[in-house]
Amino acid sequence: HATPLLTQINPLPNPPRKGEGAASSFGQNAATNPERHLPRDEGGWEGVPVGPNVLTNPADPADHLGTVTNATPDDVTAAIAAATVSTWPQTPVATRSNLLRATADLYELHRPELFALLAREAGKSWADAVAEVREAVDFLRYYAEQVEGQTMAPSRGPIVAISPWNFPLAIFTGQIAAALAAGNPVLAKPAPQTPLIAFRAVQLMHEAGIPPDAIQLLPGAGGIGTALTANPSIAGVVFTGSLPTARKIDQVMAANLNPTAPLIAETGGLNVMIVDSTALPEQAVRDILASAFQSAGQRCSALRVLYIQDDAADRTIEMLKGAMDELTLGNPWHLSTDIGPVIDEAARTKIETHIDTYERSGNLIHRLNARGEGTFVAPAVLRINGIADLTEEIFGPVLHVATFRSDQIDQVIAAINASGFGLTFGLHTRISSRVRQVSNTVHAGNIYINRNQIGAVVGSQPFGGEGLSGTGPKAGGPHYLPRFTLGYGHAEIA
Ligand code: NAD
Ligand code: ALA
Repeated sequence: HATPLLTQINPLPNPPRKGEGAASSFGQNAATNPERHLPRDEGGWEGVPVGPNVLTNPADPADHLGTVTNATPDDVTAAIAAATVSTWPQTPVATRSNLLRATADLYELHRPELFALLAREAGKSWADAVAEVREAVDFLRYYAEQVEGQTMAPSRGPIVAISPWNFPLAIFTGQIAAALAAGNPVLAKPAPQTPLIAFRAVQLMHEAGIPPDAIQLLPGAGGIGTALTANPSIAGVVFTGSLPTARKIDQVMAANLNPTAPLIAETGGLNVMIVDSTALPEQAVRDILASAFQSAGQRCSALRVLYIQDDAADRTIEMLKGAMDELTLGNPWHLSTDIGPVIDEAARTKIETHIDTYERSGNLIHRLNARGEGTFVAPAVLRINGIADLTEEIFGPVLHVATFRSDQIDQVIAAINASGFGLTFGLHTRISSRVRQVSNTVHAGNIYINRNQIGAVVGSQPFGGEGLSGTGPKAGGPHYLPRFTLGYGHAEIA
């Protein structure tokens, strides 16, 4: 029972780009569905309207990447029906593993194209794009290895996988790979900002031999997510995205689904780093910069609140300002770019409004002096009294700084825990008893000592939050897959 791939992405000829021949050749290879093309101006690029379904490069509004037609509620119903009768659950574990590995091989084979899509659709710097393809490949191989040679508990049934735009290949692939490895057909809804990379990934999964009814793509916005998560035939949801969306999904599932259907939700955080006066300032500043501003701060793991011990604050902030001024904000297509754009205009407006508020009250400590034609936000450092000043995650290159006295460290930890979030946490200190004390009391899924707090590595650093930051189990760790089976909580993998 083969199901059509329910997405329609139509490659558009790239507009001629002055002096960028290499960049413009990419569009010729973009994903295509020969069966259901959208109408377009056969005369080429000039007449194609920019509408909601045309994807543009956040760093360069003139760079049009292709189009996507979103799934309809009827597509959702048809896809769930096909998933329900898929024979994927009966596929031997060894075959599942081999197909995931074959997908990893194809990702590697097509890596230049994937790097380019990540740079152009998601605004990833080249370094981030390379790391992301690697993470996606790691997820495929890790989950393949997890089930290899194991007697698995029964699978659950169709799993809905809903992913964010900020890791449009790695998280998208990781969710699908885990659900497939455990024997579940998957209905994947990518973020509306990044459907092309998702489409290309699913094409490669199918090319590797994963049956079309085992992984179906349903592009769309929140409405398609609701249609999927409200359907009583689905057996569970794996979600990564913001806390408000996780809450909505939870409510929809509670109203419509069997109460045993799991929601695995990984959300955001108000991630903190504490730097005390014994820390090595050069090392701390390097790790603050990477944690707060790499990927334009668009990582769930990114540093949002820096607590510096008062007697180290002036020198650390001076060094931080100098180091910030060396960062290059620009189009990720250029190798010299450190920080690309934020994902879209809505994100830019929200972040700029937040920075403006602090600037107006005299609490802008420093800002990179840079502008760009796309949706760029120059990194900013803002002064706060403490984490309690913040009520929500600001998902961009904005670092909030507070100071503390040495006798206030317990209060700082209590304030962090009171925020309710608990994703990543960083500590720079050379006092080993403080490492033990703080790591034992702070509520955070991933704790990093004397290093940056981003870029968890699949397998060796399972990733996921506590409290408002996630339900667990951690992705890329040994407890994740069992949640996708009916054996959760028991000795599910013999
Ligand atoms: P988002 O919550 O806006 O969207 C995430 C996904 O949910 C998208 O595919 C979106 O279309 C879908 N969606 C929206 N409304 C829905 C609904 N009512 N029902 C079902 N699906 C719906 O998040 P985003 O802006 O795409 O991503 C950024 C957020 O993701 C940040 O909060 C970030 O911290 C978080 N994040 C968390 C992790 C983690 O592992 N903890 C990793 C990456 C990103
Ligand atoms: N796994 C990603 C990181 O650690 C989100 O930055």
